[in-house]
Amino acid sequence: MKHRWKYAVAAYAITISAAALAVEPDAAMLSNACAGCHGTYGGSAGPSMPSLAGHSKTAIVEAMKKFKSGERPSSIMGRLAKGYTDQQIELMGEYFSKQKIHFTNQKVDLAKAKRGAELQEEHCSRCHLDDGKEGKDDTPVMASQWLPYLQMQMELYQTGKRKMPERMAEKVKPLSPADIEALLHFYAGVNK
Ligand code: HEC
Ligand code: HEC
Repeated sequence: MKHRWKYAVAAYAITISAAALAVEPDAAMLSNACAGCHGTYGGSAGPSMPSLAGHSKTAIVEAMKKFKSGERPSSIMGRLAKGYTDQQIELMGEYFSKQKIHFTNQKVDLAKAKRGAELQEEHCSRCHLDDGKEGKDDTPVMASQWLPYLQMQMELYQTGKRKMPERMAEKVKPLSPADIEALLHFYAGVNK
């Protein structure tokens, strides 16, 4: 009797690990399709592409939804996002959220970055947490993103093509173009 119980537990354990295995490669395999642009573990290799590593799952899922619906303008992602179900997007979001943040070590203007660090503390740190290495809720990782990518996204916001979150708009509005530029240099330059 005692033995049969043991076997049942062992069989149950095998069933669980098989189910877990069936999910894991799926998430990694799906995310492989993103590697050409976002890097194998979500670390972007190109200046017009964001890194995804370390974004919260919510940030990735929300961005994908906005690409899918067309609310967020894109060169590529709109068409791409339409090819995935909500469940697949969740899996990929989870996968990238578990990867270690990618540091790019790009050159930035140090004087601008220094000014940007002060502005970040005062204006942006409520959502772009810990020097932008973390994001609150659906806020993306900013630290070490490529400067050209950040500049492009900021321009989309400021020309009204990408909708800025209201609370963020309140913080951005009073800043001069030089302030904004300083902030983006700061984020791009965070490398540890
Ligand atoms: C051919 C290149 C390419 C591929 C493949 C690709 N992306 Fe992208 N991705 C981009 C570009 C470029 C952007 C910036 C928005 C745009 O212009 O489309 C972006 C932006 C994003 C963002 C927004 C990040 C942020 O910081 O706001 C997410 C999330 C994302 N991609 C997820 C994915 C996922 C998940 C996959 C795989 C299914 C994928 N991408 C495949 C090029 C690509
Ligand atoms: C109330 C929270 C909040 C505050 C404050 C805030 N942001 Fe954001 N930020 C967000 C969210 C959420 C997103 C992504 C939303 C979206 O889908 O457009 C974002 C996205 C961005 C992006 C695009 C990043 C990407 O990967 O596409 C930039 C650039 C940015 N913020 C700059 C700033 C700067 C500079 C400040 C300070 C002046 C600031 N933000 C303040 C919440 C905030």
